[in-house]
Amino acid sequence: MIAIETTGLEYTYTDGTNALSGVNFEAKEGEKVAVLGPNGSGKTTLFYHFNGLIKPTRGEVRVFGESISKNNIDKIRKRVGIVFQEPDSQLFAPTVYEDIAFGPKNLRLGSMEIKNRVTQVLHRFEIEALAQKNPSNLSGGQKKRAAIAGVVAMEPDILVLDEPTSGMDACGITGTMEILDELNDEGKTIIISTHDCDLAASWADRIYILNKGRVFKSGIPKHIFADEKLIAEAGLKQPVIVQTYREFRARGISRGEVPLSVLDFMDSVDVKVMNIRCAIAGCDVEAGDEVCLEIKNGMLIANKGSNGVTGRAVFDGKKGEDIAVRDVAGDILQHEGTITIIRVPGIIEGGSRAADLDRVRDILSKNKHQKMGAMGTSAKVLMTRLGLVCDFEFDVIQSGILAALRGFDVTILASGGMADRVAEKVKEKKLKYSCFVL
Ligand SMILES: Nc1ncnc2c1ncn2[C@@H]1O[C@H](COP(=O)(O)OP(=O)(O)OP(=O)(O)O)[C@@H](O)[C@H]1O
Ligand SMILES: [Mg+2]
Repeated sequence: MIAIETTGLEYTYTDGTNALSGVNFEAKEGEKVAVLGPNGSGKTTLFYHFNGLIKPTRGEVRVFGESISKNNIDKIRKRVGIVFQEPDSQLFAPTVYEDIAFGPKNLRLGSMEIKNRVTQVLHRFEIEALAQKNPSNLSGGQKKRAAIAGVVAMEPDILVLDEPTSGMDACGITGTMEILDELNDEGKTIIISTHDCDLAASWADRIYILNKGRVFKSGIPKHIFADEKLIAEAGLKQPVIVQTYREFRARGISRGEVPLSVLDFMDSVDVKVMNIRCAIAGCDVEAGDEVCLEIKNGMLIANKGSNGVTGRAVFDGKKGEDIAVRDVAGDILQHEGTITIIRVPGIIEGGSRAADLDRVRDILSKNKHQKMGAMGTSAKVLMTRLGLVCDFEFDVIQSGILAALRGFDVTILASGGMADRVAEKVKEKKLKYSCFVL
């Protein structure tokens, strides 16, 4: 089912500015779509059409197959929630609490349901402490979070967010994108605009590039960012990981498809050409000694010996010093840690309260874990309730897999459907793993 579709969309502002010309856009139900484009390319104008805030000068907008009209506008606005680029255009109530409650009140929900929804989103967005503050006194990033929370509280089927992460710190960005992923797992369609190509590359199922009011290109991130010329012509910048890959490929070190994450990038590196390595001496070594390389506690260690991955020390080194090893033969990735996935009930399944804490303690005591991560609200809450600390704050799946590839035993707590995503990725990398459902 197509959630939002525009055909031949044109829009001219009253001063004659032609903001959109012949835009054909679609977001399928359950998809994560990112719209990229330079300033003034028409992203905000396009988003205003998605719930009938403005009417097309020409063309059509359909939401779940229905063309927007006077008769169905109320229904459409319930299904499509828009978070504006400027939070000041959205926040107006005297407190954050009342602001978030405004949407659900407008939906004429009962007072208990309103209270539940507000409490839940305050918790989800970790802004409980801001509930009684006046929105105009919040910091830029906090305002943005409160504005997103207000729209999420209305539980629309489609969430449209105009530059949701601009002005946020790194933690805020990760947190926000994780909440959007969680909502997407619960079945919501998510459309964002952003100037952050790194974020769009790693997050989106599909990307639209707008330029001067037209769709310049659309497609899956791998195709979009594989075309260096196209990205430059669109006035965008390649993600750092793609730039690094191109440099490595030009030097014969990387090969294969364009990577969009550090994990993909690791796959692109041709280990056979990496026959000189930097390692830490596990014992005193002399130049010319045969050494074996092993990853321990995340570091590449060189000990004297001829087992497994071997090489020769280039110069003398005392235990603990950095040394160079040449003629490295063998694949370092064979020294892997394990991954334990614990599925915590998602918020809609009762959250961390529905989990048996003793069972988690039991799983943790029976499985080795040197590094821990939590994905999603209920998993994070469970970690806190157990007094555990996360080693990975950002990009938990990728960070966990990278740590396992460096030899750590990793445990990941994941809320609801997110656990399946972790398992899928871990399987792809052929790592040893076990899954527990709480
Ligand atoms: N109210 C308005 N009246 C006249 N022109 C407008 C109005 N709002 C936007 N425009 C023009 O429409 C074009 C598209 O603007 P829009 O805000 O949609 O771009 P955008 O891609 O969202 O840019 P940004 O990245 O800066 O947010 C621009 O040329 C802008 O100057
Ligand atoms: Mg804009």
